[in-house]
Amino acid sequence: MGRAVLLHLTCVILAFWSVSLVKADDPYRYYTWTVTYGTISPLGVPQQVILINGQFPGPTLDVVTNNNIILNLFNKLDQPFLLTWNGIKQRKNSWQDGVLGTNCPIPPNSNFTYMFQPKDQIGTYTYFPSTLMHKAAGGFGGLNVYARPRIPVPYPLPTGDFTLLIGDWYKTSHKALQQSLDSGKTLPNPDAILINGHTKSSFNGDQGKTYMFRISNVGLSTSLNIRIQGHTMKLVEVEGSHTIQNVYDSLDVHVGQSVSVLVTLDRPPKDYYIVASTRFTKPVLTATAVLHYTNSQTPVSGPVPAGPTDEIVWSMKQARTYRWNLTANAARPNPQGSFHYGQITPTRTIVLANSAPLINEKQRYAVNRVSYINADTPLKLADYFNIPGVFSMNSIQGVPSDGPAFMATSVMPASLHDFIEVVFQNNENTMQSWHLDGYDFWVVGYGFGQWTQASRNSSYNLVDALTRHTAQVYPNSWTAILVSLDNQGMWNMRSAIWERQYVGQQFYLRVYNPIRSLANEYDIPANVLLCGKAIGRHP
Ligand SMILES: *[C@@H]1O[C@H](CO)[C@@H](O)[C@H](O)[C@H]1NC(C)=O
Ligand SMILES: *[C@@H]1O[C@H](CO)[C@@H](O)[C@H](O)[C@H]1NC(C)=O
Ligand SMILES: *[C@@H]1O[C@H](CO)[C@@H](O)[C@H](O)[C@H]1NC(C)=O
Repeated sequence: MGRAVLLHLTCVILAFWSVSLVKADDPYRYYTWTVTYGTISPLGVPQQVILINGQFPGPTLDVVTNNNIILNLFNKLDQPFLLTWNGIKQRKNSWQDGVLGTNCPIPPNSNFTYMFQPKDQIGTYTYFPSTLMHKAAGGFGGLNVYARPRIPVPYPLPTGDFTLLIGDWYKTSHKALQQSLDSGKTLPNPDAILINGHTKSSFNGDQGKTYMFRISNVGLSTSLNIRIQGHTMKLVEVEGSHTIQNVYDSLDVHVGQSVSVLVTLDRPPKDYYIVASTRFTKPVLTATAVLHYTNSQTPVSGPVPAGPTDEIVWSMKQARTYRWNLTANAARPNPQGSFHYGQITPTRTIVLANSAPLINEKQRYAVNRVSYINADTPLKLADYFNIPGVFSMNSIQGVPSDGPAFMATSVMPASLHDFIEVVFQNNENTMQSWHLDGYDFWVVGYGFGQWTQASRNSSYNLVDALTRHTAQVYPNSWTAILVSLDNQGMWNMRSAIWERQYVGQQFYLRVYNPIRSLANEYDIPANVLLCGKAIGRHP
């Protein structure tokens, strides 16, 4: 073979090789994470926690939009384990979602390499364990997706940013908490609130400079309010949406949610309290951290600033002030409001009513009377390999009905490219928080009592509502969302209140198109883990 021919052949091979890689132009980021148990004493008494690479909370994943993340996760726990990437949409790629309906759990002393891209997303997100009650022991961390260098964000770049993971916390181990849920009991009240896994974190900044605080509620079940003594917070981003930049004294952050705020250190040089306290609970639990001016010689002083005293009404009013900046860039340089969601007629309205029934004398949680139970085979794999009898597509109905609650592996069918309205109807006297994997959605309305058709006219924001991935639902109230079902896959719709999720308040939305096409959905990954009825199948 002549030299020219060889060269030509090499070029052909190289060209082939590069088109076969997913988005070869976007940088690859490689991580190796090992999950272990460890002992720390966040509340003064030693307790077992879940560490990632020896850290609690886990390492912050700082990436740029569209980076290809190759993350090899080694499970050194004594139980199967998965991480889910909260709010990362996994476009066409529910294979990587890391929940039991899409992935086999990683067995002890084994590993799985996640491969995913935060495609056209920027903002503050988190990751956390989706298996059992592992989230109660840690294993969570920040996942910050930055804009690409040439795409401007609609605010001056801050001097630095701080990741604040706030959440309720128990001294009790995750296994004991799980055991009490398995035996049909409810969880006790949490023991404390932690900020970044501690009760005494400190954040250092220079006087006169502006910093971004990336705040996420990584707790199990409690809504929190966050505030900084003497300072205001300018809201700039909520779960991937750039907001109208309102200024707040304090913000409610519900379980599973994230917000990004800018704080200018424009006060006399001293230390200031950062406060996170529980909402809608008695007693109120409070945690503090310190905002330290680098030129400060004065420790924190004065009363810890109090949270809002008005409860639900205040919080709902605040939620309605979160609005989309229609002219700001999204992750790509086009206005995020260019999709006029308010002018599209939904193809379908789904009303989801949560409940807390006793089934076989055990406390369960349900949605539209169905209390979800995990199958031994991921639903996604059952679908792919055509394995019958794993899940049921007619157990959960699209509207609430009367009758006893029952258990099922419930999947709601939906068609790719449908545009749906979902109403979360909460007839219980407790706070709810609902999350949908694979999507963000417009939160168009919150209201008291029963949602009716007329609620659309009286209380929907059809112009500049935010898109986000987790929506709170107030006690005896409703929240309405609109979702453009443009992402094929098997997607978990769940309560972000973790014990509710664990004991049945979830289901899967199967966004489906009968034509199998790589344009709609990526192929099963070569390294897929097989379990249950999928053992022995060939991808
Ligand atoms: C487990 O890790 C090894 C490298 O140590 C890697 O080659 C293998 O693909 C990983 N397994 C899975 C299922 O991703
Ligand atoms: C919206 O974004 C634009 C473009 O970046 C910015 O100029 C404007 O100030 C923002 N508007 C508000 C109200 O935050
Ligand atoms: C909502 O408003 C539209 C137009 O303003 C009206 O035609 C319709 O009857 C109203 N629907 C309800 C249920 O109030």
